[in-house]
Amino acid sequence: MAQPALIPSRREAAPAERTSHDELLAGLTAAEAAISPKYFYNALGSKLFEAICALPEYYPTRTEAAIFAAHQQAMAQAIGQGCTLIDLGAGNCAKAAALFEALQPQQYVPVDISTDFLHQSVAGLQERFPQLPMLPLAMDFSATLALPETVRQQRRLFFYPGSSLGNFDPRQALDFLRRVRAALPLGASDGGILIGLDLVKDARVLEAAYDDAIGVTAAFNLNLLNHVNGLIGADFSPRDWRHVAFYNGRQQRIEMHLEARRDLIVRWPGGRRTFHQGERIHTEYSHKFTEQDILGLLDEAGFGNCRLWFDQRRWFAVCHAQAR
Ligand code: TRP
Repeated sequence: MAQPALIPSRREAAPAERTSHDELLAGLTAAEAAISPKYFYNALGSKLFEAICALPEYYPTRTEAAIFAAHQQAMAQAIGQGCTLIDLGAGNCAKAAALFEALQPQQYVPVDISTDFLHQSVAGLQERFPQLPMLPLAMDFSATLALPETVRQQRRLFFYPGSSLGNFDPRQALDFLRRVRAALPLGASDGGILIGLDLVKDARVLEAAYDDAIGVTAAFNLNLLNHVNGLIGADFSPRDWRHVAFYNGRQQRIEMHLEARRDLIVRWPGGRRTFHQGERIHTEYSHKFTEQDILGLLDEAGFGNCRLWFDQRRWFAVCHAQAR
């Protein structure tokens, strides 16, 4: 069989590509193998994630949307109109678009690592909202929040829905919120954050959400291997791997892994690794929060004046906080 093309090393790789290449190899060769969840989001991965959001088991997207719908006016009052709406991990931009009317932003800045998907989403959205200036940024915001000067400084609102903060470990989550705080240049009450976080609940509800009956989440997890093959020229065969997801109550998190179905060897240019049957590659954490966790984190990161909104079952929370 032909080896997959090895694009990055055949030419001078850009620094960002170099970093992700090295980061991937470091993770693959670590004693406990891991691949960063940001590699879920190639073009197919972004579509599979959209499909996850439509699954009956995956309650977060629907629940969060219901909270936004029920409390839009109160949120708009807390936030004030005319913000610079910076959408972190915008994806199809649907969540932000649902708030345009209530918030009346002056500028919309969707940020996403999945370049083509982002540009397609924005093209459609710009047609629906021709008056709103949009500035899509294709970048890895987990690495840097250095925004170009074309992003308005005034009244910045960082929009971070979908409990994506939970995909960092707690230490990284705090660092990330501190970087968001630092990207609110004007400080006190001029800017803020609107964030959606999934709450601690019954483990059965949680586990079903990350291991659905028809296997969409499994496909999403396995697609990571196809993406990594393309990025570093590895020869992962997704058929040899199984999707594993479970709730770790002590750490308050869902853990997702890929588990080898048999003993196998994965090769890439310059290296290889043996995996034994049952050995796992860690792909994602999804931490769950209590109300106290949320208030504590935001306070430590330099935010104040927190307001929280919940759904009736208290499965999910949306929080607005101001820079202080
Ligand atoms: N932020 C989302 C979450 O933690 C991301 C996500 C949802 C996800 N479903 C997933 C990530 C399935 C990997 C697999 O819920």
